[in-house]
Amino acid sequence: MDEIIIRRPDDWHVHLRDGAMLDAVLPFTARQFSRAIIMPNLAVPVTTAALAADYRRKILQALPDEKTCEGFVPLMTCYLTDETSANDISQGYTDGVFAAAKLYPANATTNSAHGVTDINELDAVFEGMQDIGMPLLVHGEVTDPKVDIFDREAIYIERVLTSLTKKFPKLKIVMEHVTTKDAVDFVRAHQNQVAATITAHHLMLNRNDIFQGGIHPHRYCLPIAKREVHQLALREAATSGDTCFFLGTDTAPHPLSDKEASCGCAGIFTAVNALELYTQVFDEENELEKLEGFASLHGSSFYGMGLNDDHVTLVRENVRIPGSIPVSDGSSIRPFRAGQTLGWKLKY
Ligand code: NCD
Ligand code: ZN
Repeated sequence: MDEIIIRRPDDWHVHLRDGAMLDAVLPFTARQFSRAIIMPNLAVPVTTAALAADYRRKILQALPDEKTCEGFVPLMTCYLTDETSANDISQGYTDGVFAAAKLYPANATTNSAHGVTDINELDAVFEGMQDIGMPLLVHGEVTDPKVDIFDREAIYIERVLTSLTKKFPKLKIVMEHVTTKDAVDFVRAHQNQVAATITAHHLMLNRNDIFQGGIHPHRYCLPIAKREVHQLALREAATSGDTCFFLGTDTAPHPLSDKEASCGCAGIFTAVNALELYTQVFDEENELEKLEGFASLHGSSFYGMGLNDDHVTLVRENVRIPGSIPVSDGSSIRPFRAGQTLGWKLKY
């Protein structure tokens, strides 16, 4: 197969930031995807429907005037805090401002200082979301500093998700950017209620790659890449055709100087070649015919949204990942696998 045509995909996990960074990264996502779930972890987090409506306006204003970006829909999420009001959330969802709410355990990852400190305080919020069918998106890592960083996801399942799914059996949950076989097994066992996004970089990396011949800050993200056995479980899950797994890049741009630093921050930027990266993996697994389900069908069905009307074409042709993406404030972003070549090209 040298050419594939699939329904236009959606990206169910994107960090667009704001200001100059938003202008720099948005075109890449909007050219490839019809809709994207926009993560709310700005420096001032998107915690209310009013803030989300404002952020959505900024995103739409920043959209380039290009045919390929026409009709791009940013799907907004609410950043849950200890103070989140069940009313604001449900109202925001009913009004069409929020598509979902995002649960960051406090200090689990980039810009999560305002996250939730005690999930038990949010019962009323979850009950309301369950009633109206609003999905809960979870950053599934415990923050207990005593827990080894490579075990934080598995222990989150044990300590938090297992009881959450029992307590709210109708609450739709997306376990974001899963990185372990434990998560794959958990999602499969709860697939009437739980789904998962899988990033391109977690399909392509295991923890050895972070330290191969030296330390690679551009391969560092949270949750951190795990052992090969987990990477292989993710590759199997993504390409299995199971509807509980779908595309979410977790593309997370940071200025180069924040990544290449004595304490480099977490986040991998894959937006530029997102669909081509996934296609490469599906090709390597000999499962290209499963790409459309993962990229374009399963997510919208879990979210209860319609399918996109148009299609995209990928051809077996070399494409070079750019070495650097400039930002108008003078900084730059280094894409994942910068300067390397991929074997599939998206036709624009
Ligand atoms: C994300 C970011 O930079 O906002 N970083 C990351 O490593 N994935 C936050 C997140 O999704 O955890
Ligand atoms: Zn993320």
